[in-house]
Amino acid sequence: MFNEIINRRGSGSYKWDTIVDDGIIERGAYPLSVADMEFRTPLEVRQAITDFAHKGFFCYTSGDEVYRDSVREFLLRRHNFKIENEWIVCVGGVVFAINTAIRAFTEPGDKVIIQTPVYYPFSASVKNNGRVIADNPLVINNGKYEMNFTELEEIASQDDVKMMLLCSPHNPVGRVWTKEELQKVGEICLKNNVILVSDEIHFDILRAGQEHTVINNVDESFGKNTVICTAVSKTFNLAGLGTSNIIISDEKLRETFKDQLSKDGYSCINCVSRPATIVAYTKCDYWIDAMRKYVDDNIEFVKSVVKRIPQIKMYDCQGTYLVWLDMRNLGMNDGELDIFLRDKCGIIQDPGYWFGENGKGFSRLNVACPREILEKVMNKLEQEIKKL
Ligand SMILES: Cc1ncc(COP(=O)(O)O)c(C=O)c1O
Repeated sequence: MFNEIINRRGSGSYKWDTIVDDGIIERGAYPLSVADMEFRTPLEVRQAITDFAHKGFFCYTSGDEVYRDSVREFLLRRHNFKIENEWIVCVGGVVFAINTAIRAFTEPGDKVIIQTPVYYPFSASVKNNGRVIADNPLVINNGKYEMNFTELEEIASQDDVKMMLLCSPHNPVGRVWTKEELQKVGEICLKNNVILVSDEIHFDILRAGQEHTVINNVDESFGKNTVICTAVSKTFNLAGLGTSNIIISDEKLRETFKDQLSKDGYSCINCVSRPATIVAYTKCDYWIDAMRKYVDDNIEFVKSVVKRIPQIKMYDCQGTYLVWLDMRNLGMNDGELDIFLRDKCGIIQDPGYWFGENGKGFSRLNVACPREILEKVMNKLEQEIKKL
């Protein structure tokens, strides 16, 4: 199911058609960049979209009760997260929702906490809305990324700090935060009236044995100031549908968020995402399990190659299909590393510095692709590093 090599050139794909330099793919490079998968979306979802298209109506569409039931039941079944249908706010994507939350709950000049290295739209969303980044960088302790809670507590206590953007599981470092870690984050935010936006978009993609905890499941009282971002997009490779389900249990917060959403001109969901979400969330658990196993094996493969290359380090990748490689020991600057990976190794990557200053010398690779491709690029990486 996942071994098929699909030609995505000419589909308008960001990864394959837009952000690649002229001719680079034809010269043999492979994009392991933008976070969508090289796997076909589950057959049942494709069929639902086809059936819907055949009806021939593409109307203004709401997230009705059938849609909400599918989201609610999925969250309960897969994440033991019990919600009410009315807590779900349908938004055209998680990044959109983060921007809306920033405008809804903070004022220009207010500070928003992020934890670099982190998914770069976090910092862009803060800056683009005229807010200020309060960085609480992650730290590497005994080969593992961790949060610096002492500093987090100090930052959160400042008067002008109004929000925190949490990435859980974390893109790009791959941490699945423990209950204890989330307890500390939730308590610090609650105590300091810092609204906690928890981006849990990668919550279904975990290594075998890992468990994701939805922030409100750590402590129900956290629901007073959390905005939880979920979506079908990462889980089922539906990124282009532009859809997400934001869970806000607190009525006042929810109304403030919805009010901002209407000021932003957003009123109805993508009509195709309705049947796609319903079928994905009711009929495709088997696909998630199979995809996870395939991605786990891919990550094990990358680990085995990295073990043979002393100049590269890989930190424990507990969740997501993104691998975060520490290439600082190659001694290359940002441009040199990018060119080396692209022109010599045939890898189009997301360079680490995009994720923050502390991402310099790192590379993020998306390994949700057929094994044959991964073997080809990883073996080439090994050969080229040996030649240096
Ligand atoms: C942490 C995180 N949040 C949000 C997104 C994008 O979400 P959306 O496409 O719904 O805006 C991504 C995509 O890579 C992501 O990694």
